Amino acid sequence: MPVSNVNLQMLGAQDVVAALQSLRARQPVKFSAFYSSQLGGVVTDPALMVIPFDDHMVHRGHGIFDTAAIVEGRIYDLEAHLDRFLGSAERSKLKLFGSRERMREIIIRTTAASGLRNGAIRYWLSSGPGSLELTPAAGAEPGFFVMIFGGLSYPERWYTEGLRVMTTTYPIKPPLYAITKATNYLPNVLMQMEAKEAGLDNGVFIDETGFVGESSNMNVAFVMKDGVLKHPKFERVLPGCTSLRLLELARGLVGRGVLTGVEVSDIPVAEARAAREMVLLGSSVKVAPIVEWDGQPVGDGKPGPGARALLDLIEADMRTGDRLIDVPY
Ligand SMILES: Cc1ncc(COP(=O)(O)O)c(C=O)c1O
Repeated sequence: MPVSNVNLQMLGAQDVVAALQSLRARQPVKFSAFYSSQLGGVVTDPALMVIPFDDHMVHRGHGIFDTAAIVEGRIYDLEAHLDRFLGSAERSKLKLFGSRERMREIIIRTTAASGLRNGAIRYWLSSGPGSLELTPAAGAEPGFFVMIFGGLSYPERWYTEGLRVMTTTYPIKPPLYAITKATNYLPNVLMQMEAKEAGLDNGVFIDETGFVGESSNMNVAFVMKDGVLKHPKFERVLPGCTSLRLLELARGLVGRGVLTGVEVSDIPVAEARAAREMVLLGSSVKVAPIVEWDGQPVGDGKPGPGARALLDLIEADMRTGDRLIDVPY
């Protein structure tokens, strides 16, 4: 077969940096700082926020991540996110990059270097570069990366008018993968794309036995007709730090006219559809009311008082609670 005359250039280090800079100029991104154990420090130029292609996190998805929020110059609930990060690492057979204390320190110092006072910290652990095999390369050193950025943002109408969601046609992850925050988010990505293509805001996984799971990067919960806040068990869904915290804090709402109880249990779809309120919970979305699910109104089809009260609780905890770390800017 004749070879077409595509003119491939051979590039040197300077060409590569120039190409990366030109890429970022064509499609600017707002990333404030990036730490890489492979680079051995922090960069603030997004063109330099790179990872070797043969890193197993890139080509095999052998990596994990987590995300914590920066709120008014402080990091919220980092210990809960680190607990989950270490759990994900263990289940993924990933070697840690030093101790938990060292990783925590790097996260805090990278946040300080970014100067960002409101946003998000996303950090990853990879099995490292060195081969295109499946198992980590001989002598591979784990990679640890920390990105400081503005965080995910959602339309204001999600909070004022509520969201519309659909049951996804994509299968839910099996338990091991659902509770491990690995870099393979294909089902989550496809679910969100499917919903957007249908003109909706997001999707919801249902498991094989008909119990409600979670959304793309958020948990779901319900305020039932009797006022009980019900959350699915953390077996087929990621143990969300927001959910876990709110399940504690929401007990304070019981008996004050908002909730009558708090429960974690399997939730059959039919029961969920009869709920008074349905909410999305997560570090970036915080608490957002769902007003329509599969074309049917949830409750009276309007954002309810449970969603409002839960949002107030988590926002107060993020600003003035006892789970904040001051960033040494
Ligand atoms: C699949 C999935 N479920 C739920 C959540 C909510 O977790 P958190 O409250 O820790 O943000 C996330 C976000 O991390 C997620 O990716």
